[in-house]
Amino acid sequence: MEKIKLNNGVEMPVLGIGTFMIGSDDAESAVNYALKHGYRLIDTANAYMNEKAVGRAIKKSGVPREEIFVSTKLWPSVYEDEDAIEKTLKRLDLDYIDLLFLHQPAGDYKKAYKMLEKAYKEGKIKAIGISNFEGKYIEEILNECEIKPQVIQVEVHPYFTQEELRKITDKEDIKIMAWYPLGHGDKSLLLENVFQKLGEKYHKSPAQIILRWHTQMGFIVIPGSKNEKHIDDNMNIFDFKLTDDEMKEIAKINKNVRYYHRTDDNLKQFASFAPDFESQK
Ligand SMILES: NC(=O)c1ccc[n+]([C@@H]2O[C@H](COP(=O)([O-])OP(=O)(O)OC[C@H]3O[C@@H](n4cnc5c(N)ncnc54)[C@H](OP(=O)(O)O)[C@@H]3O)[C@@H](O)[C@H]2O)c1
Repeated sequence: MEKIKLNNGVEMPVLGIGTFMIGSDDAESAVNYALKHGYRLIDTANAYMNEKAVGRAIKKSGVPREEIFVSTKLWPSVYEDEDAIEKTLKRLDLDYIDLLFLHQPAGDYKKAYKMLEKAYKEGKIKAIGISNFEGKYIEEILNECEIKPQVIQVEVHPYFTQEELRKITDKEDIKIMAWYPLGHGDKSLLLENVFQKLGEKYHKSPAQIILRWHTQMGFIVIPGSKNEKHIDDNMNIFDFKLTDDEMKEIAKINKNVRYYHRTDDNLKQFASFAPDFESQK
């Protein structure tokens, strides 16, 4: 597994498994399968309601804790709860988190960022992340933080390549972690001619070509899947390399269009949405 070095010296795998919209039972078996088949990065979140299942899968896999890189996210409803990180650790059954994100720039995210900095200093988290903090939000964090974030997790795929954000992240040495890397499974993205053609050339599926593109762009990528064949395929992308011309050809399909359009109203709703995280299986 290729690794990438973060701005604090911590190394993390460039590819892992995502667990958004995957219920507890499926998440436990998908993560357990992934770990047994070479994955070392798992992405979850308070709001996915599967952190306990991820914790069980880690234990069950038998893979040593220090070999696994776990990223999770605090939901805005816990931003003012001083025990939010302890509760997250408890659900995951871990004693540290490799990368902890603030999931959304909603609620009192400035206070929550300070909570992450404190946990970082105490060694409870090894890297700090912000998720969906594009535009003014990342600027605000960079202007006010004591410890710079190591990673920002945002929507990225060949239809939306985050050109504006990359100007900041390149300058600040903050790595981009791509959500919806496969367009959330959108067939029109997977069926683009360029991926069909390159798939034939390299004997890979369109999804594998897209994931290889992500890693060559310098993105950390976490395709979500509960299908064992896809989980195997998604990791099998390091035995070929797209040429510069092929990367340029893929760049041509960028539309600068997202699948998910968040509004200010959504941010207000996120701040008041308070699931009972302890009720998960
Ligand atoms: N920070 C945020 O706000 C945020 C938002 C969304 C997502 N995320 C994170 O990013 C991860 C990835 O996003 P996502 O899971 O929503 O979307 P995605 O990875 O772009 O796409 C997942 C979909 O693609 C399918 N798929 C996976 N591998 C495939 C393959 N090799 N060939 C064909 N289809 C394949 C999956 O179905 P199968 O199960 O059948 O494989 C699933 O329907 C999430 O799981 C989560 O960890 C974060």
